[in-house]
Amino acid sequence: MSPDLLKPLMDAVPMPLVLIGRNERVVVANASADGLFGVLENDRHYATVLRQPALLDCIEAALRGDTQQESQFVRRDATRDTTYRALAAPVRIDGRDGILLSLEDIGHVEAAGQMRRDFVANVSHELRTPLTAVLGFIETLQGPAREDSAAQDRFLEMMQREASRMSRLIQDLLSLSRVEATERQRPTGRIDVAALVTSASMTLGPLVRETGVTLDVRGADEAVEIPGDADQILQVITNLTENAIKYGGSSVTVELFAPERDPVLRATAVRIEVRDDGDGIDPIHIPRLTERFYRVDNHRSREMGGTGLGLAIVKHIVNRHRGRMRVESKAGQGSRFVVVLPHATGEGAVLGG
Ligand SMILES: Nc1ncnc2c1ncn2[C@@H]1O[C@H](COP(=O)(O)OP(=O)(O)O)[C@@H](O)[C@H]1O
Ligand SMILES: [Mg+2]
Repeated sequence: MSPDLLKPLMDAVPMPLVLIGRNERVVVANASADGLFGVLENDRHYATVLRQPALLDCIEAALRGDTQQESQFVRRDATRDTTYRALAAPVRIDGRDGILLSLEDIGHVEAAGQMRRDFVANVSHELRTPLTAVLGFIETLQGPAREDSAAQDRFLEMMQREASRMSRLIQDLLSLSRVEATERQRPTGRIDVAALVTSASMTLGPLVRETGVTLDVRGADEAVEIPGDADQILQVITNLTENAIKYGGSSVTVELFAPERDPVLRATAVRIEVRDDGDGIDPIHIPRLTERFYRVDNHRSREMGGTGLGLAIVKHIVNRHRGRMRVESKAGQGSRFVVVLPHATGEGAVLGG
């Protein structure tokens, strides 16, 4: 096994690789392994450079049993730990045996696991709050309020409100998981965005009347067709308009613009704008608004019956349609949510995240 021949080949591989001979000495290590362990001189015993017990056991077992072994290796530095999946595979090159140790950075798997744990913790917390309230009301109805019919009505009403909150949360969670599941599939339908804008404003009629906000719909008189999923785009318009009504000031405008070339998507696209004249959003919050459960004002969102998932759902739907969303706002000056959707099939940029 000539190191001179193997070294250039192994250097071209981005993952750390160490070839260890049957005599337990390092034959050659690639540049990436040098970066991880410090420069590995050939002919040194592998145990003097690799050191972590789990890794040593794995290599020893592979050498002894001539079978592939797997383990983990954690690199610790001042700021963070990086976990690698270590594979020790028996190899035979030029009639000589050895073990090829490869290390795969699985940090992204860990990060995904952490995200999942955070999400489950968030969901549990969001469900527990109304559930605790409902349990408390039941106790009161069974005890102190047993004979008090006025109190019973009041508690039943509060229980209904908390149960509706749980129901909305479940609905939004299901919506989010459906949207995520289909995010890589292009929508196949053709939809009329103007009709959807009109339909969203009708659906929100009761909320408009209840809050006294003026809702002004513009540009939705003539049909504007795009490829898309009608239910999903309706949800986008409804969520944005509902937010503007709930968190905005006294007037909300939803405006649909005729198709024009979008410089970012580099395609013809339709633009939907939802504007309000409310308190606006401090710019430090804007990049995080589409994160699940992120709210600028927790108390206000809860009071308004929000789940904190509306904009996360919007983001995934817009991504699926290969469109883009922009939020413009200054504290005290209202907000403008802009959604741009490609007008024709086969156009539009692919968005990450
Ligand atoms: N038009 C708006 N004006 C001010 N704040 C807004 C507006 N739209 C959204 N927000 C903020 O973004 C947060 C996240 O919105 P969303 O994901 O729809 O969740 P929810 O409405 O359930 O709280 C809201 O809680 C609110 O703080
Ligand atoms: Mg919302």
